[in-house]
Amino acid sequence: MNLKGRSFLTLKDYAPEEIMYLLDLAADLKAKKKQGITGNSLKGKNIALIFEKPSTRTRCSFTIGCIDEGGHPEYLGKDDIQLGYKESVEDTARVLGRMFDGIEFRGFKQENVEKLAKYSGVPVWNGLTDEYHPTQILADFLTLKERFGKLAGLKLVFVGDGRNNMANSLMIGSAKMGLDFVILAPKSLWPAGELVSLCEEYAKQSGGKITITEDTAAVAGADAIYTDVWCSMGEEDKAAERIALLSPYQVNAALMEKTGKDSTIFLHCLPAVKGKEVTEEIFEKFADVVFDEAENRMHTIKAVMVATLGEYDR
Ligand code: CP
Ligand code: NVA
Repeated sequence: MNLKGRSFLTLKDYAPEEIMYLLDLAADLKAKKKQGITGNSLKGKNIALIFEKPSTRTRCSFTIGCIDEGGHPEYLGKDDIQLGYKESVEDTARVLGRMFDGIEFRGFKQENVEKLAKYSGVPVWNGLTDEYHPTQILADFLTLKERFGKLAGLKLVFVGDGRNNMANSLMIGSAKMGLDFVILAPKSLWPAGELVSLCEEYAKQSGGKITITEDTAAVAGADAIYTDVWCSMGEEDKAAERIALLSPYQVNAALMEKTGKDSTIFLHCLPAVKGKEVTEEIFEKFADVVFDEAENRMHTIKAVMVATLGEYDR
């Protein structure tokens, strides 16, 4: 599989076989790291890490993943560069493209990560925008594969803000990989109809299924229940409104019970606000899975960089 030179802006751009390849590569790199083996596939490569929003996992994953493979990461925080307010995104992209071999971007507008890719001429990786968080899905799917040995046919239920970056990206990834995917959310927080239609098309191809509902009975039979914060970065002013809307959708013992299964796992992209989207009890019960998922950010992000920029034969 040759993904050299490709950007990773949204999972829409990747075929199911390509997503599976990235997951398999991540599993390989993870197994090697556990044996103390790191590589040199990014030797001589300089990687810019642009962060308009804060980050623990994504920043550390790009940094460690890059260094493990012999590359050099350079962090460019929101006060370090003047992206989009004193210099146009197009101009910053052209400058960075002359100096760096790859660029990660975390920020607000999806349009900006797309412009960076268009104007820099080097692979650009989306480390989260308001609309999508595609690298997170790779970590989630690697975690599901480790726990269940497969992806296709699993029932995954996302509960909470059904129109945020996580819900959107999980829907795209699940539709492509043949999962039975449910968004459980109040109607005012449902994803855009256009994206749902596109995902329904993907699901037809993969044998997957997409359901959007307000009914908590939809968790029945779930293999995994997933939630995320009720207020994403940049939406802190919506806290009161979201608490009112989403309190009936908290992941708690009663909701887990409604799956009717003992084997259901709980996933969270983190950071978590315990007592809001998930109770402390459920979070701690599934802490092993959730922190595997967090660790898997690093292995999967490393795989994305290695596949699109590095020299590695698999
Ligand atoms: N899950 C995730 O993207 O975490 P960070 O915001 O810490 O990068
Ligand atoms: N929806 C969250 C995801 C954090 C990883 C946010 O955008 O803040």
